[in-house]
Amino acid sequence: MIYQIATRDDAENINNMRNHLDVRQYLHSPICHTLKNCTEWIENIYHSSSSERIAIYTDPPETETLSYNPFVGLFRIDEIDALNNTCYVGLDINPSQQGKGYASIIYKHMLNELFELRNMRIIYLEVLSHNETAIHIYKKLGFMECGRFPRKIVRFGREIDSCVMYIDRKMLIQNE
Ligand SMILES: CC(C)(COP(=O)(O)OP(=O)(O)OC[C@H]1O[C@@H](n2cnc3c(N)ncnc32)[C@H](O)[C@@H]1OP(=O)(O)O)[C@@H](O)C(=O)NCCC(=O)NCCS
Repeated sequence: MIYQIATRDDAENINNMRNHLDVRQYLHSPICHTLKNCTEWIENIYHSSSSERIAIYTDPPETETLSYNPFVGLFRIDEIDALNNTCYVGLDINPSQQGKGYASIIYKHMLNELFELRNMRIIYLEVLSHNETAIHIYKKLGFMECGRFPRKIVRFGREIDSCVMYIDRKMLIQNE
Protein backbone atom coordinates (compact mmCIF):
# COMPACT_ATOMS: atom_id res chain seq x y z
CA MET A 1 0.00 0.00 0.00
CA ILE A 2 1.28 3.49 -0.83
CA TYR A 3 0.53 6.31 1.64
CA GLN A 4 1.20 9.88 0.46
CA ILE A 5 0.26 13.32 1.74
CA ALA A 6 -2.66 14.37 -0.50
CA THR A 7 -1.90 17.08 -3.05
CA ARG A 8 -3.85 18.67 -5.89
CA ASP A 9 -2.85 15.65 -8.04
CA ASP A 10 -5.08 13.46 -5.87
CA ALA A 11 -8.03 15.86 -5.91
CA GLU A 12 -9.91 14.20 -8.78
CA ASN A 13 -9.80 10.76 -7.15
CA ILE A 14 -10.80 12.24 -3.79
CA ASN A 15 -13.63 14.31 -5.24
CA ASN A 16 -15.08 11.40 -7.23
CA MET A 17 -15.02 9.24 -4.11
CA ARG A 18 -16.58 11.82 -1.78
CA ASN A 19 -19.34 12.62 -4.28
CA HIS A 20 -20.31 8.94 -4.65
CA LEU A 21 -23.58 8.24 -2.81
CA ASP A 22 -22.12 5.13 -1.10
CA VAL A 23 -19.60 7.39 0.64
CA ARG A 24 -21.55 10.65 0.87
CA GLN A 25 -24.39 9.08 2.87
CA TYR A 26 -21.98 8.40 5.75
CA LEU A 27 -20.16 11.76 5.79
CA HIS A 28 -21.05 14.38 8.37
CA SER A 29 -21.27 16.89 5.52
CA PRO A 30 -22.97 15.28 2.48
CA ILE A 31 -22.53 18.27 0.16
CA CYS A 32 -21.39 17.47 -3.41
CA HIS A 33 -18.30 19.51 -4.30
CA THR A 34 -16.79 20.58 -7.60
CA LEU A 35 -13.26 19.54 -8.52
CA LYS A 36 -12.19 23.19 -8.07
CA ASN A 37 -13.59 23.31 -4.48
CA CYS A 38 -11.99 19.98 -3.67
CA THR A 39 -8.58 21.05 -5.04
CA GLU A 40 -8.67 24.25 -2.94
CA TRP A 41 -9.70 22.28 0.14
CA ILE A 42 -6.83 19.80 -0.30
CA GLU A 43 -4.35 22.64 -0.83
CA ASN A 44 -5.53 24.45 2.31
CA ILE A 45 -5.13 21.28 4.38
CA TYR A 46 -1.70 20.69 2.83
CA HIS A 47 -0.58 23.96 4.47
CA SER A 48 -2.39 23.37 7.76
CA SER A 49 -0.55 22.42 10.96
CA SER A 50 -3.59 20.86 12.64
CA SER A 51 -4.93 18.65 9.84
CA GLU A 52 -3.53 16.18 7.32
CA ARG A 53 -4.99 14.15 4.47
CA ILE A 54 -3.26 10.98 3.30
CA ALA A 55 -4.13 9.52 -0.10
CA ILE A 56 -3.74 5.76 -0.30
CA TYR A 57 -3.07 3.71 -3.42
CA THR A 58 -2.47 0.01 -3.99
CA ASP A 59 1.07 -1.12 -4.65
CA PRO A 60 2.30 -0.85 -8.26
CA PRO A 61 0.62 -3.53 -10.41
CA GLU A 62 2.60 -6.70 -11.03
CA THR A 63 0.84 -7.34 -14.34
CA GLU A 64 0.88 -5.30 -17.53
CA THR A 65 -2.91 -5.06 -17.58
CA LEU A 66 -3.06 -1.98 -15.32
CA SER A 67 -1.00 1.09 -16.08
CA TYR A 68 -1.99 2.89 -12.87
CA ASN A 69 -2.30 2.14 -9.17
CA PRO A 70 -5.96 2.08 -8.10
CA PHE A 71 -6.94 4.77 -5.59
CA VAL A 72 -7.97 3.06 -2.33
CA GLY A 73 -9.05 5.92 -0.10
CA LEU A 74 -8.35 8.97 2.02
CA PHE A 75 -7.23 8.95 5.66
CA ARG A 76 -7.83 12.12 7.65
CA ILE A 77 -6.13 13.46 10.75
CA ASP A 78 -7.72 16.54 12.31
CA GLU A 79 -7.42 18.66 15.46
CA ILE A 80 -3.82 17.57 15.97
CA ASP A 81 -3.04 18.74 19.51
CA ALA A 82 0.72 18.65 20.05
CA LEU A 83 0.38 19.80 23.68
CA ASN A 84 -1.88 16.96 24.79
CA ASN A 85 -0.86 14.46 22.08
CA THR A 86 -4.37 13.80 20.78
CA CYS A 87 -6.04 13.93 17.38
CA TYR A 88 -9.16 12.91 15.47
CA VAL A 89 -9.02 10.45 12.59
CA GLY A 90 -11.28 9.12 9.84
CA LEU A 91 -11.12 7.07 6.66
CA ASP A 92 -13.16 6.79 3.48
CA ILE A 93 -12.60 3.88 1.10
CA ASN A 94 -13.26 4.26 -2.63
CA PRO A 95 -16.50 2.31 -3.42
CA SER A 96 -14.71 0.10 -5.98
CA GLN A 97 -12.24 -0.96 -3.26
CA GLN A 98 -14.67 -1.53 -0.37
CA GLY A 99 -15.14 -4.95 1.24
CA LYS A 100 -11.53 -6.06 0.56
CA GLY A 101 -10.25 -5.59 4.11
CA TYR A 102 -8.44 -2.33 3.29
CA ALA A 103 -9.99 -0.26 6.12
CA SER A 104 -8.66 -2.64 8.77
CA ILE A 105 -5.20 -2.77 7.17
CA ILE A 106 -5.00 1.03 6.84
CA TYR A 107 -6.23 1.73 10.37
CA LYS A 108 -3.69 -0.71 11.85
CA HIS A 109 -0.90 0.97 9.87
CA MET A 110 -1.99 4.53 10.72
CA LEU A 111 -2.71 3.85 14.43
CA ASN A 112 0.72 2.29 14.75
CA GLU A 113 2.31 5.34 13.08
CA LEU A 114 0.34 7.81 15.22
CA PHE A 115 1.04 6.05 18.53
CA GLU A 116 4.58 4.80 17.93
CA LEU A 117 6.18 7.37 15.64
CA ARG A 118 4.16 10.47 16.48
CA ASN A 119 3.69 9.77 20.16
CA MET A 120 -0.09 10.26 20.25
CA ARG A 121 -1.70 9.45 23.59
CA ILE A 122 -5.39 9.19 22.66
CA ILE A 123 -7.05 9.12 19.24
CA TYR A 124 -10.71 10.03 18.73
CA LEU A 125 -13.18 9.66 15.88
CA GLU A 126 -16.81 10.48 15.15
CA VAL A 127 -19.09 8.12 13.27
CA LEU A 128 -22.77 8.32 12.38
CA SER A 129 -24.77 5.76 14.36
CA HIS A 130 -26.28 4.13 11.22
CA ASN A 131 -22.81 3.31 9.86
CA GLU A 132 -22.79 -0.31 11.06
CA THR A 133 -19.83 -1.41 8.91
CA ALA A 134 -17.57 1.37 10.21
CA ILE A 135 -18.63 0.82 13.86
CA HIS A 136 -17.94 -2.92 13.48
CA ILE A 137 -14.39 -2.15 12.29
CA TYR A 138 -13.71 0.45 14.99
CA LYS A 139 -14.82 -1.90 17.80
CA LYS A 140 -12.69 -4.68 16.32
CA LEU A 141 -9.67 -2.36 16.34
CA GLY A 142 -10.30 -1.55 20.01
CA PHE A 143 -12.11 1.81 19.81
CA MET A 144 -14.71 2.38 22.53
CA GLU A 145 -17.71 4.66 22.44
CA CYS A 146 -17.30 7.51 24.94
CA GLY A 147 -20.30 9.67 24.10
CA ARG A 148 -22.78 10.80 21.50
CA PHE A 149 -24.16 13.97 19.99
CA PRO A 150 -27.86 13.05 19.98
CA ARG A 151 -29.71 13.65 16.70
CA LYS A 152 -26.80 15.74 15.35
CA ILE A 153 -27.36 14.98 11.66
CA VAL A 154 -30.56 14.99 9.61
CA ARG A 155 -30.29 12.44 6.77
CA PHE A 156 -32.99 10.70 4.72
CA GLY A 157 -35.62 12.56 6.79
CA ARG A 158 -34.23 10.97 9.97
CA GLU A 159 -32.31 12.42 12.89
CA ILE A 160 -29.08 10.47 13.38
CA ASP A 161 -26.76 10.40 16.42
CA SER A 162 -23.06 11.03 15.97
CA CYS A 163 -21.02 8.61 18.14
CA VAL A 164 -17.67 9.65 19.59
CA MET A 165 -15.19 6.80 19.98
CA TYR A 166 -11.63 6.71 21.29
CA ILE A 167 -8.64 4.45 21.58
CA ASP A 168 -5.52 4.89 23.67
CA ARG A 169 -2.16 3.30 23.16
CA LYS A 170 -2.61 0.76 25.96
CA MET A 171 -5.88 -0.46 24.45
CA LEU A 172 -4.18 -0.99 21.08
CA ILE A 173 -1.39 -3.05 22.66
CA GLN A 174 -3.99 -5.18 24.54
CA ASN A 175 -5.79 -5.92 21.27
CA GLU A 176 -2.68 -7.10 19.42
C1 LIG B 1 -16.69 1.93 6.33
C2 LIG B 1 -15.55 1.70 5.37
C3 LIG B 1 -14.39 2.64 5.73
C4 LIG B 1 -15.09 0.24 5.50
O1 LIG B 1 -14.01 0.00 4.61
P1 LIG B 1 -13.77 -1.43 3.94
O2 LIG B 1 -12.38 -1.45 3.41
O3 LIG B 1 -14.86 -1.72 3.00
O4 LIG B 1 -13.88 -2.38 5.23
P2 LIG B 1 -13.17 -3.80 5.45
O5 LIG B 1 -13.29 -4.57 4.16
O6 LIG B 1 -11.80 -3.61 6.05
O7 LIG B 1 -14.05 -4.44 6.60
C5 LIG B 1 -15.44 -4.55 6.50
C6 LIG B 1 -15.91 -5.24 7.78
O8 LIG B 1 -17.27 -4.84 8.04
C7 LIG B 1 -18.09 -5.98 8.09
N1 LIG B 1 -19.40 -5.57 7.60
C8 LIG B 1 -19.82 -5.44 6.31
N2 LIG B 1 -21.09 -5.01 6.30
C9 LIG B 1 -21.48 -4.88 7.60
C10 LIG B 1 -22.69 -4.47 8.25
N3 LIG B 1 -23.76 -4.10 7.55
N4 LIG B 1 -22.73 -4.43 9.59
C11 LIG B 1 -21.64 -4.76 10.33
N5 LIG B 1 -20.47 -5.17 9.77
C12 LIG B 1 -20.40 -5.22 8.42
C13 LIG B 1 -17.38 -7.00 7.24
O9 LIG B 1 -17.78 -8.33 7.58
C14 LIG B 1 -15.93 -6.75 7.65
O10 LIG B 1 -15.69 -7.24 8.93
P3 LIG B 1 -14.62 -8.42 9.24
O11 LIG B 1 -13.27 -7.85 8.91
O12 LIG B 1 -14.81 -8.68 10.70
O13 LIG B 1 -15.02 -9.55 8.34
C15 LIG B 1 -15.96 1.89 3.88
O14 LIG B 1 -17.04 1.04 3.61
C16 LIG B 1 -16.33 3.33 3.55
O15 LIG B 1 -15.47 4.14 3.26
N6 LIG B 1 -17.62 3.61 3.56
C17 LIG B 1 -18.16 4.91 3.14
C18 LIG B 1 -17.63 6.11 3.94
C19 LIG B 1 -17.58 5.82 5.42
O16 LIG B 1 -18.45 5.19 5.98
N7 LIG B 1 -16.51 6.33 6.05
C20 LIG B 1 -16.34 6.19 7.48
C21 LIG B 1 -16.97 7.35 8.15
S1 LIG B 1 -16.76 7.26 9.90
